[in-house]
Amino acid sequence: MRLDKFLADCGTGTRSEVKKLIRSGAVRVIGLDKISPDTKIDEKSAEVYLNGEPIGYKKYVYLMLNKPENCLSATQDRYKTVVTDFVPSEFKHFDVFPIGRLDIDTVGLCILTNDGGLAHRLLSPARHIPKTYLAEVDGALSDEDVKAFESGMDLGDFITKPSRLEIISAAENKSLSKVTIFEGKFHQIKRMFKSRGREVTHLKRIAMNRLLLDGNLSEGEIRELTTDELELLTYDTE
Ligand code: URA
Repeated sequence: MRLDKFLADCGTGTRSEVKKLIRSGAVRVIGLDKISPDTKIDEKSAEVYLNGEPIGYKKYVYLMLNKPENCLSATQDRYKTVVTDFVPSEFKHFDVFPIGRLDIDTVGLCILTNDGGLAHRLLSPARHIPKTYLAEVDGALSDEDVKAFESGMDLGDFITKPSRLEIISAAENKSLSKVTIFEGKFHQIKRMFKSRGREVTHLKRIAMNRLLLDGNLSEGEIRELTTDELELLTYDTE
């Protein structure tokens, strides 16, 4: 692999930035006296240093975004903000995409990655990966609703798998609840509540598999997952 591509893939800068770094002498490759942006290295074994710090090659990147409202779960759109608009410049060249889709008005946990294999495994209907949401609805939820979510609902074009509804608070005109579903059909949670005569007034995803949304991340903020968080996300998907 070319040295400039290697450094860019490691997240040290854009291709033109790393070319400048190489030419400025900030980069050292053990065993090579002369290097240039097109120097070929073996990315698995080369010992590369940037300003004296060792650089490790990264093939995949995993980002956690607290998705805001008015933002599409897409990689591009002519008019609307998309989730990839929040990707910091050092990760741009990874060409990440969102794992699954949240509605434009749904906020919360959105994972962006370039790891297509993981995305496929997390979205596979056969794996029943749990996704948890906080849902605010317009009316009083009751134990009858909990039972209906548990038994599976006929939504016309499909019957939902048993899901979990936990009522956090219920008042005459507003209830707050936690919902866990094990599939991800279009508008699923809104449609489930609708079939119980309720409108969802606010929806936020707070967990995917065992990974929780970082409560310190404000809407629109994004950061790389830690190794432990990646394990929670990929739990039981191998
Ligand atoms: N269910 C919905 O209705 N909308 C979402 O964005 C996610 C789950």
